[in-house]
Parts: sequence; C-alpha cells; structure tokens
Amino acid sequence: MERTARLGTTNDADNVTVIAVVARGDDQEFRVSHSVPAHVAGIDIPKSVSAAWAQRQGLSSAVASTTTLRSVGGSDLLFVSGGSESLNELDEWRRIGAAVSKSASGNSVALLLALEDVSEPHRVTQAIVEGALLSSYRYRGGDEEAAELVIVPVGPLPTVEFHDALASGVAAGVTVGNAVNWAKRLIDTPAGDLPPKELAKRAVQRLEALEHVSVSSWAESKIEDERLGGLLGVSQGSAQPPRLVLATYDPRPEEDLPHVVLVGKGVTFDSGGLSLKSGEGMMTMKTDMTGAAVVLSVIGAAAELGLSIKVTAIAPMTENLPSHRAVKPGDVLTIRNGMTIEVLNTDAEGRLILADGLSLAAELEPDAIIDVATLTGAQNVALGDEIGGLFASDDALAEQLLLASAASGEALCRLPLFENYESHIESDVADMKNIGKPGKAGAISAALLLRRFTNSLPWAHFDIAGPGRSDAARGYYTKGATAFTARTILEYLSNVSANA
Ligand code: BES
Ligand code: MN
Ligand code: ZN
Repeated sequence: MERTARLGTTNDADNVTVIAVVARGDDQEFRVSHSVPAHVAGIDIPKSVSAAWAQRQGLSSAVASTTTLRSVGGSDLLFVSGGSESLNELDEWRRIGAAVSKSASGNSVALLLALEDVSEPHRVTQAIVEGALLSSYRYRGGDEEAAELVIVPVGPLPTVEFHDALASGVAAGVTVGNAVNWAKRLIDTPAGDLPPKELAKRAVQRLEALEHVSVSSWAESKIEDERLGGLLGVSQGSAQPPRLVLATYDPRPEEDLPHVVLVGKGVTFDSGGLSLKSGEGMMTMKTDMTGAAVVLSVIGAAAELGLSIKVTAIAPMTENLPSHRAVKPGDVLTIRNGMTIEVLNTDAEGRLILADGLSLAAELEPDAIIDVATLTGAQNVALGDEIGGLFASDDALAEQLLLASAASGEALCRLPLFENYESHIESDVADMKNIGKPGKAGAISAALLLRRFTNSLPWAHFDIAGPGRSDAARGYYTKGATAFTARTILEYLSNVSANA
C-alpha cells in the first residue's frame, strides 16, 4: 500500500514513531525555526545544535541530509537539513519530503512545519507530500502496511485561508503522488505481464471510475476501420493485438473550456523489430510505454483534481517484434492523415504510432497538443538521463511548459525544430522516411517527422528516452520508472485551468 498524508496538529505527534524537524545550518551551527516547540510528545527539541555535533551524526548542510536521535520509550527525533539558506525552492521541499519519508522507513511520522518557512502554503505542502509519496514507491513488496505522514503546522495560528491552502496542498500532493506512482507501476511491470490489451484494460479500469471522464479502448478491427496504418504496421510482427486508448475529461461540456490533447507512446516492448536491437539494448525496453502511462495518469489526476479544462489522452499501444509477419525495412505505411512513411529502420517505431496518434489529435482541433515518448537514443546522448528534450512549434506553449518544468523539478531543455534538417527525412518512395542522417541530430529529425502530423496546431513534444528511467534512487526518484513529465504536464494543465 502507498504511504498516505494528511494535515494534523501537535496532538498527532503523540501517536507517531518519528517526529521530524527541519534544521538549517552553516559551518557553525544548525538552527531549528523558532516556531518549533521546545517539547513535543514528551521529547525535547533543541533550538540549535553545533555543526561539529551535526557532522558527527552524519548531518550535513546539503538539503535533505538527515540524522535520527533515538529516545527511550518515546518518539525518535529526525533532523532533516534544509540547506544553509531559507527555503524557497519547491524541489527542496520535495527532497525534504522524500528524506523524511525514507528516514521514517515505513513508520508513521509527523513533520513539524514552521509556518514562517512557508511562503506558498498550497505549493509547499503539495511538494512535501509529492516527495514523500514518490520516494516511498516500491515495485516489489508493495503490500507493506501504509504508514502515514502527518504534516503539523507550528507557529502563530494561521488564517483560515492559509490553513485551507495547506490542507488542499496536502490533498493535491496525495493525488499527484499516487497518480505518478500508478504510472511508475505500469512502467516497471514486465512486458510479458503487460501486453497492449492488459495495459489498455488497466487504463480503462482506472479512468472509467472517474467523474467527467469517458474512456474507450479500440480493438484491432476498430484500429483498421480508423486506418491507423502506423500502429498496424508496427504491431503486425507481434502475436499480441494492438490497442488504442482514447480518454476524455470534460467537466463542463456545455462550456468552451480550453482543450489540450495528450498523446503518449505505448510500445509495451521494443525489440527493434527486424532491425533488431542488441541484447543489452532491449534490457530496459519494457519501459517504452512510458509516454502512454504518463498521459493516462495525467488525465486521471486532472479529473481527480477537478481542473477546469478539457483534456483528451490518446495512447496507441503495441509490441515491436520481429516475425514472419513483421514490417520490413523498405515497406511503406500509410498514416491516418493519408501521408506515407518509408520504414527504413523498424526500430524507429515510436514515430510511426505517434504519427497516427497525432493525426487523431489534430482532428480534434484542440488549443494545444502535447506528446510524450521515449523516442530516441539521441536524446539520451544529447541531454543525459536527468534532462528531457522539449520541442515546440509554438513559443508561448514552450514558455508555459518550461515554467511548469521549473516548478515540477523535472528538468527540460528546449531543442530546435531546425528547418534545414527536414531534408534528413526525405524519401524517394514516400512522403518521408522514418530515420534521419545516421549519427546526426536524431532527436531533431524524429521531432520534425512528428510535426508533420500536427496540422500546424500549437504542439509540444517531450522526448524522455533518457530521464524516463533512473538507474539509481536519487532524491525523490526511485530506481527504475520515473514517469518523467507527468508532474510538469499536470502543473501546466493546472495553470491553464487557473487562467481559464
Ligand atoms: N525506444 C527507442 C528509444 C530509446 C532508446 C528509449 C534507449 C530509451 C532508451 C526507440 O524506439 C528507438 O529504438 N529509437 C532508435 C531510432 C533510430 C533507429 C533512428 C534510436 O534512437 O536508436
Ligand atoms: Mn525502437
Ligand atoms: Zn521504441
């Protein structure tokens, strides 16, 4: 079971195993904010500790460093470092939430939150809870007893407004944290247990229960009727039939709400097809449906948060396998919008299924289209595994997404849709080919291909081949699936909703 969180009072501190306080320090001493009481639940909380003592306990001034003081019979006292300056960065609060959660190792914990440290109450409590929930995700052993994180505001009594903002932030953090963990669980699930029909089934199960959400799963015959030639071409090598999940969240159909369409790459396993990957290269390819998991988790969370915006999620799902029926290098596929693509490398399959997904998205004529895909190894080479690539046909949209990225802590770097490289995807036999120039700007040529299916609507593309998974636990990220960009997109949708 996942960790839960709520807002509480100092009375709650009597019933938890661990009491956590933030300490900020330099090379002289660490101080606890003055609103933190000197005695809580029978334990003494010092106002300050010397840096020398802290160092002996393993507590450094690096944000989210921790040390625990055991007490006989009472609660443990956990110090978590808030860095040397006063906290303002949301991502530091996420890392503090993660550190508190990890140090409590499954025990209930109360974090004493000094109100003088909190400028934006909703955002700060949301960040703490996100960090705690994301870091406590485990793919295995998910049945541990749920342990609660209680955030206890301390200091002068807050206004009702301030208190409500703290409480709604906690609730939003629980919604977002659990939604992202839901995506991570799908991504970490072995491909053998999660073929397209199973992924589609789990998405439908989650989404059909939500208010104002309608969801359908297209079977192969429907996909044929709708002429999704890219998706059919990729899936024909597999014994597993493809699916396309189409979900819409529309809280007020009678109004003209802003409409954002999300498209996610759902390759449940990418062997490369006949252009087969190496053994090493396909070891992590169960995660190639990250884009689909992200957009489906985002639309679910948007509904749970009750955002005032219309959202559609489109997730084409398939395996990419070699067989006697597989698409062959040199074959030409006709995409939903009538354009043709020469398949010269069957391992460049993501753009083929996204071409269909984006064509469907463009037909809805939304205000913006955003796609998410573990698309190119070239993205990983360019930016590594902690920064995602952002491409956008619209500067205002790019700006809004970069703002959202700064708030979410998911680093994104905008890469250019460089016009001259259109020549890289010219084909002699079709409207385009599915690979660019070998070894040259592969993330850009992939993005340029995708753009051709967006009908000149404002469009952004996240290539998250690198940051889609983490090779080690780091801060609030756990090893394996990250569901990268889910929180950025949710932040963006919340902003659109707030400004609507
Ligand atoms: N799913 C891969 C991209 C990928 C690679 C994601 C590593 C995560 C980690 C994608 O389908 C792919 O194979 N892309 C090829 C395209 C090439 C053949 C033009 C690539 O980047 O090598
Ligand atoms: Mn591939
Ligand atoms: Zn792929």
